[in-house]
Amino acid sequence: MNLLDSLRWRYATKKMNGLAIPQDQVDKIIEAAYLAPTSSGLQPFRIIEVTNSDLKEKIKAIAFDQSQITDSSHLLIFAAWDNYTTERINGVFRHTALERGMPEDTLADYKNKLITSYTPRDARDNFEHTARQAYIGLGTAIAAAAELRIDATPMEGFEAADLDTLLGLPEKGLKSVTILALGYRDEANDWLVGMKKVRTPKDEFLIRLN
Ligand SMILES: Cc1cc2nc3c(=O)[nH]c(=O)nc-3n(C[C@H](O)[C@H](O)[C@H](O)COP(=O)(O)O)c2cc1C
Repeated sequence: MNLLDSLRWRYATKKMNGLAIPQDQVDKIIEAAYLAPTSSGLQPFRIIEVTNSDLKEKIKAIAFDQSQITDSSHLLIFAAWDNYTTERINGVFRHTALERGMPEDTLADYKNKLITSYTPRDARDNFEHTARQAYIGLGTAIAAAAELRIDATPMEGFEAADLDTLLGLPEKGLKSVTILALGYRDEANDWLVGMKKVRTPKDEFLIRLN
């Protein structure tokens, strides 16, 4: 299975070499995240692509100076809805009905159930849920990058509130969740490149109840 080979090839690259990835390759990685499943198909997250060097420098300063931020070719910032609102949920269902050429009220009962169960909840609980959907996109993007033999470092090591302000995310109703740095490994200078991939023993990881 090619996917397993790709997942064995990939690792959380610590040192990238600064070379640029062709945009069409990055677009494929974004497409994979775009096609990822989400709860009720709400797709409650966005991807912000960053290539600008000055902006990367500013992000690095609030990401514990991690070198992948500036040595990457592209940064994909996964940012999730800060809350579920009636307007947002209505918007997704309206769009789906339009795309499928169906009457707008086809899924009204299901939609209304979501609105009545999500919108009264605390915004923090809803953000936890939207962020979980963003991680599905992140995982799918990581696998897609590996298939293309593009290195990728998923990153949570940054000051999320500072990044939100820097990127103007509150005005968009978004909060940053995670960053995916995309680039090419610097084989000579990456301490992790030759290290064994270590995982929890499989008989602990997999609980079979047959
Ligand atoms: C959500 C998430 C956040 C992470 N944050 C960072 C980070 O800020 N910096 C970093 O160098 N690695 C980060 N990592 C990489 C993990 O440490 C790494 O994936 C893990 O140790 C497994 O190793 P592997 O990815 O090389 O197989 C993160 C991974 C994930 C999934």
